[in-house]
Amino acid sequence: MPDSLHCRIVEIADLPLYDPDLDNDPRPEPWVRFRREIAEADGVLFVTPEYNRSIPGALKNAIDVGSRPYGKSVFSKKPAAIVTASPGSLGGFGCNHHLRQCCVFLDMPTMQQPEAYLSNISDEKFGRDGAILDESLAKLLGKLGQAYAGWVDLITAGRAGLA
Ligand SMILES: Cc1cc2nc3c(=O)[nH]c(=O)nc-3n(C[C@H](O)[C@H](O)[C@H](O)COP(=O)(O)O)c2cc1C
Repeated sequence: MPDSLHCRIVEIADLPLYDPDLDNDPRPEPWVRFRREIAEADGVLFVTPEYNRSIPGALKNAIDVGSRPYGKSVFSKKPAAIVTASPGSLGGFGCNHHLRQCCVFLDMPTMQQPEAYLSNISDEKFGRDGAILDESLAKLLGKLGQAYAGWVDLITAGRAGLA
């Protein structure tokens, strides 16, 4: 990632399933923490595997949690990009495009190019510590990082211009 992007992982594993009946004070603490972390970020880079040709339930739940209460979505207007990865040859294409569909309703300006369907991902491409072991994959991800940094700058500057 270029120096201008300070990336960090936002935990989603502890989020209770979204239920509007629980969305009153006091709310589940993990929902409050998750919404705060997304609200503080300048953008959201989704990186996910594909489950049954779609979005893994845990990620979809996180999207649902962040999108409510209605009218108070923390995702609104945040520049997004989507990376899907799979041990198979399709690179999570189905999930990638289902996620794009969510981003339309979430009103997230979503980077169109370069697309990132990372296929045939294995321990030979990523080390257990997350290190990238494959040179062509490193190049591709480098280009993606540059493009996303530019996208965040563009959308942020555009928003400032409109304010
Ligand atoms: C419930 C489930 C459904 C899956 N469905 C797909 C799928 O539709 N397409 C795909 O490429 N991989 C699928 N996979 C494999 C995941 O891509 C793979 O598990 C993921 O990359 C995480 O890797 P890991 O299981 O080695 O941690 C599925 C895995 C699970 C557990």
